[in-house]
Amino acid sequence: MRDPQPPGSWDLTGKVALVTGAARGIGEATAKLLRQRGASVVASDLSAAVTDLEGDGLVTIVGDVSSEDMARRSVALALESFGRLDILVNNAGRTLNKPLLDTSLEDWQALFDVNVSGTFLHSREAVRAMLTSGGGTLVNLTSIVARVAMKETAAYAASKGAIAQLTKVIGVEYGDRGIRANALAPGVVETDILEGIVDDSRATLASYASAHPLGRVGQPQDIAEIAAFLASPASSFMTGALVMADGGYTAL
Ligand SMILES: NC(=O)c1ccc[n+]([C@@H]2O[C@H](COP(=O)([O-])OP(=O)(O)OC[C@H]3O[C@@H](n4cnc5c(N)ncnc54)[C@H](O)[C@@H]3O)[C@@H](O)[C@H]2O)c1
Repeated sequence: MRDPQPPGSWDLTGKVALVTGAARGIGEATAKLLRQRGASVVASDLSAAVTDLEGDGLVTIVGDVSSEDMARRSVALALESFGRLDILVNNAGRTLNKPLLDTSLEDWQALFDVNVSGTFLHSREAVRAMLTSGGGTLVNLTSIVARVAMKETAAYAASKGAIAQLTKVIGVEYGDRGIRANALAPGVVETDILEGIVDDSRATLASYASAHPLGRVGQPQDIAEIAAFLASPASSFMTGALVMADGGYTAL
């Protein structure tokens, strides 16, 4: 069995990463941190704002993660620009806060297209490329709602549960070929995704904060740090895990 990544290092020099949904929030923080740690980065997003990240060792691509063509072109861009792909962070995602009875089939399918199909398509293309170069690591963004139930999250929670289970299967299926896959489950993180869920008042954020034993909501950097760890050789004995990064929310 190959071990392409000797354990013990957080350094990503020489690695190549693809981060989806990198225009803002957790994805932006992760793309920047991976670059800081030495990886060359392909950053993708539906929003053209992602191009603001371009610079030495960081290229961007604009498109919808739920498109098969976008998944292929994103992985191809990593190979063309940097010669290989070692790390995929499936971060792009959207949410929906509706009671079950208000959730239309269109709502459900639109959410699954982005969160589940996007993760599936990018994982498949990335694993294909990684197998040719001896292995790699996948970090798939899921959520605390993959483990615990919250009202009015039926479609979102189901999509995040699907991502968690897809990730486990990839870890089990390709572990003996040097590929690791872990699901990263944040608690509430202060990003623009909360617009439409919370009324943006400090009081609402404070009430979320009090639901986390650490007494605060997360910041994008908190999650980026765990993503960078899971992407690095320092986590070389971890695969198929559901890693909670939730300030203790699910420990209650
Ligand atoms: N913020 C939280 O509280 C929280 C909690 C748990 C999990 N997450 C997950 O973390 C990930 C990042 O969330 P965030 O909080 O940074 O959200 P965000 O809304 O700030 O950023 C999401 C990014 O994904 C991009 N995106 C959305 N749909 C896309 C598509 N179809 N194709 C390409 N890009 C698309 C957006 O343009 C945006 O740049 C998501 O998967 C989310 O479900 C977030």
